Amino acid sequence: MSVPVITIDGPSGSGKGTITREVASTLNWHILDSGALYRILALAVEGQQVDWGNEVDTRKIISELNIDFQRDASGCQVIYLDEIDVTKEIRQEKCGTNASRIAKFSLVRDELMLLQKNFIKSPGLVADGRDMGTVVFPEAVLKIFLTASAAERSKRRYKQLKEQGINVSLSAVLKDILNRDEQDESRDIAPLVPALDAVTIDSSDLSIDNVSQEIIRLYKARMNA
Ligand code: DC
Repeated sequence: MSVPVITIDGPSGSGKGTITREVASTLNWHILDSGALYRILALAVEGQQVDWGNEVDTRKIISELNIDFQRDASGCQVIYLDEIDVTKEIRQEKCGTNASRIAKFSLVRDELMLLQKNFIKSPGLVADGRDMGTVVFPEAVLKIFLTASAAERSKRRYKQLKEQGINVSLSAVLKDILNRDEQDESRDIAPLVPALDAVTIDSSDLSIDNVSQEIIRLYKARMNA
């Protein structure tokens, strides 16, 4: 039997990361944080001073990336690039914006697709991103499109960044979120759109628990159908 995949796509700050961790932990499955791959690549592109418009050189960097996803003692994800802990650095708003800039390149998306497919491991995978259900895992057993209002998403992102000791203003976070929505939704390749067979959940007024329990319920219902 093939390894089951649940995809959770949605705009920036919709809570995909948190919900993905909750669902994966309940099911005891693996996680793919695909946004982290785009962010790591953006960091490497910046470090190597490749021009932001240079698609070919950006693609070349992918094969040289030495990425390691680890868990610390409390189970939190720690990400290394060339053995340097970049967990905090890649969460900076600047890195997210740069990730979105290189995410429009088809060469980059094709190359990262192969990397992402390697994350499928038994007993299952919860994959979060923008095109997990539409492009990378079209065979997923359950596809969720997670949304929330821009105001709610910026409040959540602001809180998250503060907790990580990253200093930003709420208005700057909102501006960044709107800007990123526009870049991610309007690109020609793999734009941020729900898969035709996705279930859309608006999490604006729902708790993390409500959303993850609903996803588990939907998954169980599919399994018993
Ligand atoms: O989910 P995130 O905020 O960490 O993602 C950062 C950027 O990476 C996002 O603005 C667009 C890009 N991205 C993408 O194009 N496709 C994905 N599957 C994941 C992220």
